[in-house]
Amino acid sequence: MLCNRQSSIVNRQSYTPESIQEGLKTGWLGKGLIRCYETVDSTNIEAKRLANAGAPEGTIVLAESQNKGRGRMEREWISPRGEGIYMSVVLRPRILPEEVQKLTFVVAVALAFALRRFGITPQIKWPNDILVNGKKVAGILMELTAGDGLADFVIVGIGINVNTSTDEFPLSVRSLATSINMVADRPVRRREIIKILLLQLELWYERFLTESFGIVLEAWRRLSNTLGARVMVILSDKKLEGIAERVASDGSLMVRDDKGKLHKVIVGDVVHCRSL
Ligand code: BTN
Repeated sequence: MLCNRQSSIVNRQSYTPESIQEGLKTGWLGKGLIRCYETVDSTNIEAKRLANAGAPEGTIVLAESQNKGRGRMEREWISPRGEGIYMSVVLRPRILPEEVQKLTFVVAVALAFALRRFGITPQIKWPNDILVNGKKVAGILMELTAGDGLADFVIVGIGINVNTSTDEFPLSVRSLATSINMVADRPVRRREIIKILLLQLELWYERFLTESFGIVLEAWRRLSNTLGARVMVILSDKKLEGIAERVASDGSLMVRDDKGKLHKVIVGDVVHCRSL
């Protein structure tokens, strides 16, 4: 574990489009429009504004802080200045709206592979929370705008705790959250993570579009800590407890309850029972 004070000195430099693009090894992702803000309401909201105005696939929005950072299930995403990566990417895949859920697996796999480059062993909690040593280090919020039949665009929002120290997390999540510089094998700069993440994202997104979702799901299964675990799934109207048996080919979680009945979970919040 690294000392936060020491690591924060190397990590809190603001980024600019040029500093992200310098040495960026992607083919197209992040090679066009990158918008860097001091503060925004939410990078997802800003990316959506740009996409509605015609911003092309691969447009990136970054902010030093957000005052309305949003998480899954209508939660708030605490976004202290300079402590995390708050990034949204505009994608325009030619896929049906019901297939967009699959993209959450693409992004989770890309994020997990990117973090492995820093000596971290991340695991994925269904569908797309990134955990290290059982604590959440990053989350993904996908937002779809549908067009005529196909998706018009998808905003991929990624939040990564990089320098956040334990006491900066809200009390309610303090024991459940961690940050990159608490677990990496060396101090890591945010822009270093962004460059590697963009490369992995481009790679897995192209595999998904040109090869198959099966390849993504196979990688996801290897990285997941949910499969085989006893879980509680919080659904909109009830809770379900059982063993997370497998992930179906569409990404749904198949949970067998104690009476032996198999449930297909399409959307929900999973809690691993050992951490309850
Ligand atoms: C989650 O609940 O795990 C998803 C968190 C996603 C947070 C990111 S930060 C950048 C982007 N802008 C937002 O308002 N949310 C996402």
